[in-house]
Amino acid sequence: MPRLAYVDGRVVPLAAAAVNVEDRGLQFADSVYEVVAVLNGRLLDWNGHATRLARNLGELGIPVPMTEAALGLTARRLIALNRAREALLYIQVTRGTARRDHAFAAGMRPTLAMTVRPFDFAQRVAQQAKGVAVVTVPDDRWGRCDIKTTGLLANVLAKQAARGAGAFEAWLVGRDDTVAEGASTNAWIVAGGVLVTPPLTSRVLPGVMRAAVIEAAEGLQVRVEERPFAVAEARAADEALITSTTVPVLPVVRIDGAPVGDGTPGPVAARLAGAVWDRIAVQTGYCP
Ligand SMILES: Cc1ncc(COP(=O)(O)O)c(C=O)c1O
Repeated sequence: MPRLAYVDGRVVPLAAAAVNVEDRGLQFADSVYEVVAVLNGRLLDWNGHATRLARNLGELGIPVPMTEAALGLTARRLIALNRAREALLYIQVTRGTARRDHAFAAGMRPTLAMTVRPFDFAQRVAQQAKGVAVVTVPDDRWGRCDIKTTGLLANVLAKQAARGAGAFEAWLVGRDDTVAEGASTNAWIVAGGVLVTPPLTSRVLPGVMRAAVIEAAEGLQVRVEERPFAVAEARAADEALITSTTVPVLPVVRIDGAPVGDGTPGPVAARLAGAVWDRIAVQTGYCP
């Protein structure tokens, strides 16, 4: 893959792609982003990502850098120039560059950057068969986790804590002892045949894969409840799982070292994973 990036209207080699040191994305994490799966050279769930990006820009009062249609064309062009087949498209929009000052001036021009990097989705099949471990950590994030901003320090430290403990993901736990989500995934359990995931509050990112999994569950006649669950309920659940663009359904087999169910991936996760791969095949033609 040639590794070309897009920055503010120009396609440049990734190694030469740069923004101004006074860009507010760098200075204040004053920026939002999207990660979109590229499978078989095609974008997965583009509308969901474009809609969420537009909403997040609106929430923060960052002007839209270009129309949704133009953004889609620019993204597809970058994917084609990179000759990307299985990859991740990263889109970041910052409020723009200005002399450093917490308050921002009206009429700033946003910075738009996109990169594409190869990604092996097929590795997930083996992981789906084995399952992964999660650890729980206190949720130290700000109050608007429904907005996908690049202010990810708490998520970064949580993920690092997971890695340090030999786990794949960290579940972020509130003061009320309920699980909000993972450091970069949505969280789910299966209890009594019902698929449970925390409701969309300001503590949870509305995952594009989360929406796809709810749709898949309905298609499989699996009941879905969007309600909080406590760590203790997750530990006692029949199954647990995580989802995201890069992790289309991954069974969780250990929470803080204790097995979930019998410690192996369960049947509901397997059916959901199958349905999500089918959805991917229908949209992109990709089969792992
Ligand atoms: C905190 C957090 N929650 C959930 C998700 C899953 O979102 P999506 O399914 O749109 O990838 C992500 C994705 O990166 C995330 O960072």
